[in-house]
Amino acid sequence: GDCDRINIAIDGPAGAGKSTVARLVAGQLGYIYIDTGAMYRAVTLSAQRLAIAADQDEALSLLLDKLEIALIRGEEGQSVLVNGEDVTADIRSLEVTREVSYYAASQSIREVLASLQREMAARKGVVMDGRDIGTHVLPDAEVKVFLTASARERALRRYKEMNNHEISLDELEAEIAKRDYLDTKREIAPLIQAEDAYVLDSSGMTIEEVVADIIRLCRTKLAEA
Ligand code: DC
Repeated sequence: GDCDRINIAIDGPAGAGKSTVARLVAGQLGYIYIDTGAMYRAVTLSAQRLAIAADQDEALSLLLDKLEIALIRGEEGQSVLVNGEDVTADIRSLEVTREVSYYAASQSIREVLASLQREMAARKGVVMDGRDIGTHVLPDAEVKVFLTASARERALRRYKEMNNHEISLDELEAEIAKRDYLDTKREIAPLIQAEDAYVLDSSGMTIEEVVADIIRLCRTKLAEA
């Protein structure tokens, strides 16, 4: 039944390894992984294609009414569909990455996506990663993790993931620091640690160690439930 499942919120800055860790934790528990950053990226891409700027609230609201965002579990992680179109690759472009924080500051976008995310988590058994999950979207999540790492380490990880090195490590670090700033300073649901979050600095830790740590927390909560 629903009572033996919990929700897990994993928040933290860009490049802390949230999505990798969240996906692995979900896999180990047999839970559903939800990448909320991908949802903000999908809306950003759709707006950019229609030349709607981040501050055009009315146009964004109309756009949101027409968008159907779906997260599909595929063999190689998650696919993101917008109105049936697979945008999994497109939402990772530099163009989207550079502007997504501005769109993520929009009240209309945040309201729509947060309620969608709450619906997705209603039956529990969800691992959700983002910036405001433990503080705002799922304040009652049984496990809350704030996953972080130094800006340099996060830039280095992203750099290693890139196959075409279209920007340098220093530029990457500067962009990460800028995105941290925008995500932390925005007015609505900024990136902050929930008071009851378990803070995990993954600098110098392997992915396996981070995952094991979180699984241990989950097992403790599940035993209490
Ligand atoms: O995790 P990511 O890099 O894919 O996230 C993309 C952007 O979306 C990030 O700059 C901040 C925003 N975001 C947010 O504001 N709230 C979330 N729950 C998830 C992402």
